Amino acid sequence: MTHQHTAHAQPPDTDDPTEFWEGRYGEKDAIWSGRPNRTLVDTVSDLTPGRALDLGCGEGGDAIWLAERGWTVTGVDISPTAVARATQAAADRGLAASFRTVDLETWRTDETFDLVTACFLQSPLAFGREQVLRHAAGLVAPGGHLLSVAHAAAPPWSGLAGDPTIVFPTPAGDLAALAVGADWDVLIAQVRTRPATGPDGQQATLDDSVVLVRRRP
Ligand SMILES: C[S@@+](CC[C@H](N)C(=O)[O-])C[C@H]1O[C@@H](n2cnc3c(N)ncnc32)[C@H](O)[C@@H]1O
Repeated sequence: MTHQHTAHAQPPDTDDPTEFWEGRYGEKDAIWSGRPNRTLVDTVSDLTPGRALDLGCGEGGDAIWLAERGWTVTGVDISPTAVARATQAAADRGLAASFRTVDLETWRTDETFDLVTACFLQSPLAFGREQVLRHAAGLVAPGGHLLSVAHAAAPPWSGLAGDPTIVFPTPAGDLAALAVGADWDVLIAQVRTRPATGPDGQQATLDDSVVLVRRRP
């Protein structure tokens, strides 16, 4: 199991993922901006809406953006607080997005989706991200897409840069984790850069590992 990390500087004081993420979400009324991830917008805007699943949906920024574009969205996350915030945000907008509290390491479903997204599905705790991605690939319907976006390096304000114990995802590693076969097309597998603003207003260019694959119809 590879330990993947968020860009959160504080070392975890628990190895229980629900407790850890509840602690994170409990720090503020909102810990994310509410805006969709830029790479999601850049890569998914032209797709025909259908059923979408957002893994590690947090407070629902990506799921709500998808629902506003006509996708029927399910968001899942281990934090009940995050799920409650996402549910409220969707209700405030009159959107038919649904959210569930699940542990993705054990969650299983018979449903299939036309789009599965995993944006920054990373944790400072032990987390079987590769196994979760592999399972997620099996949830993609014929003709559907899977998008993975992950920190490929530590943001400079994270205090994690240069720590050799931290393994960040790579496009090749995420493709290997997905284990997509000949019935899939790899549309994107690259590190992309983007401008970002740190918690104290610092400006930086961050590296993201981006993988977009499509199961053939
Ligand atoms: C870095 S945040 C990303 C949130 C959101 N996707 C975004 O891009 O802003 C990682 C999310 O994964 C969730 N998460 C971590 N481990 C999980 C698990 N085992 N099962 C489900 N969700 C998990 C966390 O609660 C958190 O919301």
